[in-house]
Amino acid sequence: MTPTVPPFPAARLRRLRATPALRAMVRETSLSPSDFIWPVFVMEGRDAEEPVPSMPGVFRRTVDRVALAAKEAEALGIPAICIFPYTALEDRTEDCAVAWSPDNIANQAIRAIKDAAPGLAVMTDIALDPYNINGQDGYVRDGDVVNDETVEALVKMALVQAEAGADILGPSDMMDGRIGAIRTALEAEGRRNVTILSYTAKYASGFYGPFRDAVGASGALKGDKKTYQMDPANSDEALRLVARDLSEGADMVMVKPGMPYLDICRRVKDQFGVPTFAYQVSGEYAMLQAAAQNGWLDGEATMLESLTCFKRAGCDGILTYFAPQAARALGG
Ligand code: PBG
Repeated sequence: MTPTVPPFPAARLRRLRATPALRAMVRETSLSPSDFIWPVFVMEGRDAEEPVPSMPGVFRRTVDRVALAAKEAEALGIPAICIFPYTALEDRTEDCAVAWSPDNIANQAIRAIKDAAPGLAVMTDIALDPYNINGQDGYVRDGDVVNDETVEALVKMALVQAEAGADILGPSDMMDGRIGAIRTALEAEGRRNVTILSYTAKYASGFYGPFRDAVGASGALKGDKKTYQMDPANSDEALRLVARDLSEGADMVMVKPGMPYLDICRRVKDQFGVPTFAYQVSGEYAMLQAAAQNGWLDGEATMLESLTCFKRAGCDGILTYFAPQAARALGG
């Protein structure tokens, strides 16, 4: 649709920008704390937290502190928290068995959040990398990240997370067939209302660097993830992945990273009209925080602008490390 605009001065498009009230009346999108999913890092121990150096303002927290964070999120009107474990070195093995241990710290955190803030939705991450000796999201056999054997492990992880009380499973591994396998297993166990937010269009991105520091995977990762994560040069492929994940039983889809991939968000939303989320990843967060700390950017203004742009691009919500800070800025 090409808009028709009357000639000047019938149209003075600045009229509707003249006052805050007029701007508020014609604003096309809005941002609220209910748009956020807050990713939180959990570590072993009690009553402690430690800063993640490459993510100023972000902490790894013990399970009891994650429960406090959950209460804070609930009070701020944030609807969901997503758990990522910082796994001890001895829990990273070839067979990744800790990934489906009901008592690993991620599953402890799910239960603690459900106790502390029952109204909050808990999202998980499903991938082997926090538990894998080589930092890959799947099993490595003869130098290859193998697909089908990895999917069997992911299903075990999913079922244990659902058992612990997770509301939203987030397969972030990019193996083929994992959504269908997880959905089939959930149905077989009678877990009909556990939702899947698939990391559908997840790119092999340099913007994940600080996250890998946060979960202690930077040193562990051998090689790259390009045989399973998407090529940043591709866009049509994202649509094929969305169609595939929806057909296998995903309830919601995700584009990741966020800010450099808003064109993908828009195409996905336009084409499928399904709940679409973006992950404003660690490197995006680190860039904005670093510039703000140097006084090169207005931190609060750019934070809110970046989050608003996800909504404008068609996203229903955003996974963002800014969640509590942005919720406070929005008066949540
Ligand atoms: C791992 C996973 C990653 C992120 C979320 N889950 C990193 C990766 O794929 O290497 C990145 C999140 C971020 O950078 O904030 N399966």
